[in-house]
Amino acid sequence: MRQRFWGWLDDRSGIQAMLHALLYERLPRKIGWLHVLGSGALFLFTVQVLTGMLLAMNYVPSTSEAYESVQYITKEVPFGKIVRGFHYWGASLMVIVVVLHMLRVFVMGAYKKPRELTWLVGVMLFVLTLGFAFTGYLLPYDQKAYWATKVGVSFVGYVPFIGEHLKHILYGGEELGAPTLTRFYAIHVLLLPLLTIPLIAIHLMLMRRKGEMPPGAEADEESHVEKPITFYPHQLLKDLVFAGVLLILLFLLPFVWGVHTEPPADPTDTTYLPRPEWYFLPLFQLEKVQIGKVVLFGGARVWLGTVLIPALFVLLLFALPFLDRSPSRRPRRRLPMLLGAGVLLALTVWLGIEAKVETDRERAHLAKGSDTPRFTGLAAVGQRLVMDRCLRCHRVDGQGSRKAPEFVRLAPGESSPWTKDQLVLYLVNPKETHPNTVMPTAKELGLTSLDQLEAVAEYLLHYKPIPRKRGTSSSSYHLE
Ligand code: HEC
Repeated sequence: MRQRFWGWLDDRSGIQAMLHALLYERLPRKIGWLHVLGSGALFLFTVQVLTGMLLAMNYVPSTSEAYESVQYITKEVPFGKIVRGFHYWGASLMVIVVVLHMLRVFVMGAYKKPRELTWLVGVMLFVLTLGFAFTGYLLPYDQKAYWATKVGVSFVGYVPFIGEHLKHILYGGEELGAPTLTRFYAIHVLLLPLLTIPLIAIHLMLMRRKGEMPPGAEADEESHVEKPITFYPHQLLKDLVFAGVLLILLFLLPFVWGVHTEPPADPTDTTYLPRPEWYFLPLFQLEKVQIGKVVLFGGARVWLGTVLIPALFVLLLFALPFLDRSPSRRPRRRLPMLLGAGVLLALTVWLGIEAKVETDRERAHLAKGSDTPRFTGLAAVGQRLVMDRCLRCHRVDGQGSRKAPEFVRLAPGESSPWTKDQLVLYLVNPKETHPNTVMPTAKELGLTSLDQLEAVAEYLLHYKPIPRKRGTSSSSYHLE
């Protein structure tokens, strides 16, 4: 029965010959572990497509519900946490693996004749990978998403002449808001995959057509290189081992470093320090490079750093096989080339590290700034306790969570004045006055002495939120 079905299928489809051609491709003996990076990128892309589909089943691309729906996926949906962890870390791993793959091809000189087209399509895939990353991190619609996207799109706005138009198209209006999120979502789940999948197919086809480049062989020696091994089982096994390693990392990373989510996007929060995802940090930092006291790309020159240099870099990648036409492939004979690339890479890494160091410093500075004792005496003691015990739910001075209200109505003279004693009584057991509240009792919050309670009450009675500059609300937009 099985035999007959197989025979029928093969007769109609020619599947056996196809599989044979796929699995028994002949490869040079020196193909090795470095060649698993390409298939690793393909594996990660597949993981992103699968987990992306699962996420899309519960995600709502609207500014009012996106954040909640992501929380729902993480907290309620079976395996939602794992799926989101995979997708979140898969993005970072994908960028790493794709870049390593490109570096390998570069160092081995495999972009040269006759494989220029494969390289060209590869660079397109690299740009698309960054496109996925950029459009993806707006989707959870938390603070980081909102502000980092604003920074990213502002770069687009620096394109000479048409920048403002491009920005308008990306935003779907004047400002980042409801139409932006839908647009980014459509680009992320429709446009980019529709471009990427055929390009991957073409990339693989081209690679098969000219064959894997025999490592270490110059172009004129290539036709003499023996091809003694076959893709299956030799290389396939290595590819599978690497896929296994990536899979383990996808499980481990969310465990070790978690899946980072910030409070929901707040367009009015002017105190937030926007920072992009790590792989965009070097570009972000480029804008700030200083020589002496002069900001290299400041003022009218800003487009040089944010548009021209990145564009030139991508163009350089595209043009590489046509600019570098020397036939040698062996790294030893291409030292100036490798050195140039090494310097470029080192500069990029340096910019990234610089950005990280500066961000940490500014964050620390901000945290200190908002802790400045605007209070003295008992209220200052209370302030420290509140910062320590209450930010898990309440929001104070622009920090903490939004699960519970900010303490804006407590001071005497406000709409609902509490006396200090009432406040202390409330804190001791909130359920007494608000039977259904989730607000924990003082004891549960570790406020055990009356002194502590009085200090907290004293602080709350004097707390005034920092006045904020009003920004445009995220729901405002203009139809084009
Ligand atoms: C587990 C989350 C949680 C923590 C931790 C928490 N609260 Fe609350 N708190 C709430 C919630 C939710 C409310 C909203 C009122 C309700 O549910 O009835 C609230 C309400 C209040 C109110 C009434 C505010 C108003 O405007 O009516 C005060 C005062 C208050 N909390 C003080 C504190 C203080 C002080 C701390 C820290 C020592 C603290 N809370 C820690 C969840 C929390």
